[in-house]
Amino acid sequence: MTRDLLPATAAVDADGELWIGGRRVTSLAAEHGTPLFVYDEDHLRARCRAAVAAWGDGVAYATKAFLCKAMARLAYEEGMCLDVSTGGELHVALAAGVPAGRLVLHGNNKSDAELSAAWAAGVGRIVVDSFDEIDRIERLGRSGHPGPRPKVLVRVTPGVEVHTHEFVRTGQDDSKFGFTVASGMATEAITRLGALERAGVVELVGVHAHLGSQVFAIAPFVRAVGVLAGFVAPLDLAELVVGGGLGVPYVNGESAPSMEEWAAAVLDACHAAGVPLVTRVTAEPGRSIVATAGVTLYTVGTVKDVHGHRTYVSVDGGMSDNPRPVLYGSGYEAFLAREADASRTMPVRVVGKHCESGDVVVADGFLPDDLAVGDVLVTPVTGAYGHSMASNYNKVPRPAVLFVSGGEVREVVRRESLDDLARLDV
Ligand code: LLP
Repeated sequence: MTRDLLPATAAVDADGELWIGGRRVTSLAAEHGTPLFVYDEDHLRARCRAAVAAWGDGVAYATKAFLCKAMARLAYEEGMCLDVSTGGELHVALAAGVPAGRLVLHGNNKSDAELSAAWAAGVGRIVVDSFDEIDRIERLGRSGHPGPRPKVLVRVTPGVEVHTHEFVRTGQDDSKFGFTVASGMATEAITRLGALERAGVVELVGVHAHLGSQVFAIAPFVRAVGVLAGFVAPLDLAELVVGGGLGVPYVNGESAPSMEEWAAAVLDACHAAGVPLVTRVTAEPGRSIVATAGVTLYTVGTVKDVHGHRTYVSVDGGMSDNPRPVLYGSGYEAFLAREADASRTMPVRVVGKHCESGDVVVADGFLPDDLAVGDVLVTPVTGAYGHSMASNYNKVPRPAVLFVSGGEVREVVRRESLDDLARLDV
């Protein structure tokens, strides 16, 4: 398997077995069961450090990509802030012990309760997304809300489209997120927040834009900076956040810019477009921090040769632990943990165990001819938006999550039990 798609410490031994974090992957599957998310902790830490090195202080890990207490702590320990986009993500980050001042609250529909909780905790930044939210902040502020005066950024849409799945495009004007620059909404939001600043309710510190996710090209970021620079430069604001979105390769043959190339291109474009040098320009990567650090292990349960059509390889998970193929038509590779570098010559469709035909893991893949029931199958690059979007569809318990490093295994999320499946029923 191409090393680019595997975690940094992945290695293949003389028997062909895949190892991650100093542990044999088939042994992890035997000890912890499947489906199983395995993260290379060294890889996660290195990605966080690379983000801080490229962007500087203030760069935030977008927790929606993958969040549990261990991940929140890891990103914080490695110097990142954390972007939380709901009261739930806020709760988990705080429960992990991350200081509120290192959190950035997002969301296009923050409730009074979410705003209050964030405010009372003293979150570092609130990214304001609508006039209704400004009304809420004003009401909360004028009612003498306890907690420090929040620092806020205005989320704007620069009117730049990116070539990615339409469900994850956000920079275009026709969007539920933010205020459009072109229409003057963004200016109006700045005016209203300026008035709230003078009233002592908030401190307006910057502008935020997020173009979309799984973006492979640098050019849209540069175009967005052109629009944002014209908007930001006269405002004399200290911060500009360009969101997340850096794409990662999922299948052989794909390639993406590095964290360093992304940051350098954005920072150069900012300076060329007249964003003052003192402005803190930073970003909010999610996928590019965690995607390649994680793999999913499945056990092959049935191999069905449907004569005249194709071979279906069914595994013990599927759309409940990885809904990305069914949601976005996303592609993945799959290979056998016991012979990671074997040539894959048998055309197969890898499918899950859920009750619908859309439950596909790899639509058109290849596996070695000696594939057998009971084999451990690995799908790489499942560290982002896999566990975080997992569900209990068909009452399939969600997998456990392991962090492995230097031969040590930490179970950071336990596998759901059958009893967990009924725990909310009253
Ligand atoms: N900042 C904001 C405001 C966002 O909305 C997002 C992602 C990010 C940062 C992080 O973007 P990233 O670096 O991860 O691309 N479920 C989809 C992805 C949805 C992304 C939502 N927002 C998927 O599986 O592809």
